[in-house]
Parts: sequence; structure tokens; C-alpha cells
Amino acid sequence: MDRVADRIDAKAPHPVGQSTGLSDALGRRFEYLRLSLTDMCNFRCTYCLPDGYRKAKGAPSNLSPEEIVRLVRAFATLGLWKIRLTGGEPTLRKEFNEIAGAVSNVPGIRRLAMTTNGYRLPERAQSFYDAGIRAINISIDSLDAAKFKQITGHARLEEVLDGIEAARAAGIENIKINTVLMRDLNHMEIDDFLEFVAARDISLRVIEVMRTNDNPGFFKSHHLPGENVTDRLEQLGWTRLPRVSGAGPAVEYGHADAKGRIGIIAPYSKDFCASCNRLRVSATGKFHLCLFGDGGIDLRPLLVSDHQQDELVARITALTMTKAPSHLLQQGNSGATPHLASIGG
Ligand code: 5AD
Ligand code: SF4
Repeated sequence: MDRVADRIDAKAPHPVGQSTGLSDALGRRFEYLRLSLTDMCNFRCTYCLPDGYRKAKGAPSNLSPEEIVRLVRAFATLGLWKIRLTGGEPTLRKEFNEIAGAVSNVPGIRRLAMTTNGYRLPERAQSFYDAGIRAINISIDSLDAAKFKQITGHARLEEVLDGIEAARAAGIENIKINTVLMRDLNHMEIDDFLEFVAARDISLRVIEVMRTNDNPGFFKSHHLPGENVTDRLEQLGWTRLPRVSGAGPAVEYGHADAKGRIGIIAPYSKDFCASCNRLRVSATGKFHLCLFGDGGIDLRPLLVSDHQQDELVARITALTMTKAPSHLLQQGNSGATPHLASIGG
């Protein structure tokens, strides 16, 4: 039973299926939403929260399950069919399973995904599946236990690796690993990661470290352009896969002898933003059209009642039209984002 939906007026208007879809002024189409459930995290990744999470004073509370369902209904009305629950670490939300269950039952939502640091994944994977999660991205920045601890502040590599197997055993078939590749920290592990995915039916996302307001010094020391990775892949016989329609900004590679595949996410590369299919809502209800944009636009005043649904849909439609063509990272401008945990990685 979907308890959150029970608490919401079932007669409220949500005309799923009548939409022609959500797009911006450049014709980029949006079919999925990244929804942060909390900015809190228990890890201390060097590029994100090196000093650990600190709650901002006077910060608004996180969206309630009811507010989240209203929000997701509005996006579903606009034709979005996939939701990714993210954070911070989304599983730190006590109501995580309740929220996942409610979101996966919203009419029109056909796929529910989540991003996690893998904390307690072995014992929780089954409950995630049962709540409707069908795709999971797990962050693993090192396959070496000591290095993993150095990067995340936690000696939990084994737990996270066990989590991959637990997720698969639970029935979650779509598993991706996110690896932020950093010069002089883990770049020397690239071949180990390639071997790891070659032996498993897993997709590895190699992410170029991004500069945020909190990490300029770290970025300067450890940024490694995505081409270094693609050069290595090509040396080892990996080939670029054709782009599938609706694919996001990852450039995908495969290899005849490999079970898994690789996607490179290189936000500093030319034309990265042209294929951007991302929209985000923060844990407190701020709509972010770009990771590196301004402070986000507050949707919360339109999440108070089921009867605001039409107004919410109209507002999302109008705001999406204003999505900027590109970020200004190359010019050293990373917008208002202190770190990615604040608005959803
Ligand atoms: N640069 C690149 N990736 C980042 N992530 C968090 N902060 C950054 C950053 N500054 C990634 C994490 C995780 C995902 C949620 O976002 O590694 O895989
Ligand atoms: Fe937490 Fe993810 Fe940031 Fe690491 S990158 S500190 S796991 S939010």
C-alpha cells in the first residue's frame, strides 16, 4: 500500500499522458529528474565534503513525502518518466523507503533510480528493490581499501563492493559505478577499474572532477581532463559506442572482451552541455536548471496543496525554457554551488 498517496487527495488534477513533453528554448528535451532527498552525507569525499557535513544554520527543512509526491506528479504530467533519488546521501533520510515507494507509484513514473555511497547497502539493497528501485549508481573512487579510506574518510570499501552483489541479488539489474578520477590520487587505478568492469555486467561512469565554490585548490591540484581517460581506453582497444537517442552527456565505450561498459562524463569538454538532459530539485524544493547555475528557484510555495498542481506544472514549464545554453566552468565560474552534496550530484 502506498501510504503517502493515501494521504493525498486522489481527485486532484494530474493529467498524466496529455503532455507534449518538457523542453527548453534550445530544444533540449527532459525526460528525467534528479531529486535530492537530503544534503546530509556521512562520507567526507575529498572533492565534495572534505571536512564532513555541517548543517547550514537556519536552513529550511527537507521536503516532506507529501510535497515530494506533488512535485513528482507535476513532472510526470510533463512527460518525465524517470526519477533518480540522490543527495547528499539519500539513504540517510529516515523515510527513504517510504518516499521511494510513493514516487515509484506515481502514474507515469516508469523507472526509479538512486545514487548512493553504498553505506549499509548489503543489508538494505533488498528493501530498496522492494520500494521500487530498479537502477542504482554506487560511488566508488578506489578499489584499494587504504585509498578508498583516504578519499572518503571511511574504511568501507568491502562493504560497498558487497553492496554491488547484494543489489544484483535483490533484483536491481541496472548497476553503475561512479568514479571521480583525480590526478595523483586515483588516476593510476584506471586500468584496475577497466579490469573490474570488463569482468562484470556493470557500467562504470568515469567523472571528471568539477570545480565548485568550496574546492578550487583541490580542483587545481587534482583535475584530470577526460581526454586522458579516453586516450587510455582507445590504447586498450575500447571503442566509442553510438549515441542512443535520449542519452545524457556521458560518452560511452565498449570492448569486445568486456562484459561491462564505460561512460565518460567530462563537463569541461566541448559541447558537453548540448546533450544535457538534466533537471534537478534540491532537498528543500529549489529547482536547479544547471549544476553550476544560481541558487535555484523555490518550488515549495506550490507544493502546499494538491490543488496547486496546474500552477506548478505551468511554472516548471516556464522555468525550464530559461535553462542556460552552457555552464561557465571554462571561464572559472562555477555558479553558486558550494559542493555537489548541496544540490544533488
Ligand atoms: N566533481 C565530480 N563529481 C562529483 N561528485 C560529487 N562532487 C563532485 C565533484 N566536485 C559525484 C560523486 C558521486 C556523485 C553523486 O557525484 O562522486 O559519484
Ligand atoms: Fe557524500 Fe557523495 Fe559528497 Fe562523497 S561525493 S561526500 S558520498 S555527497
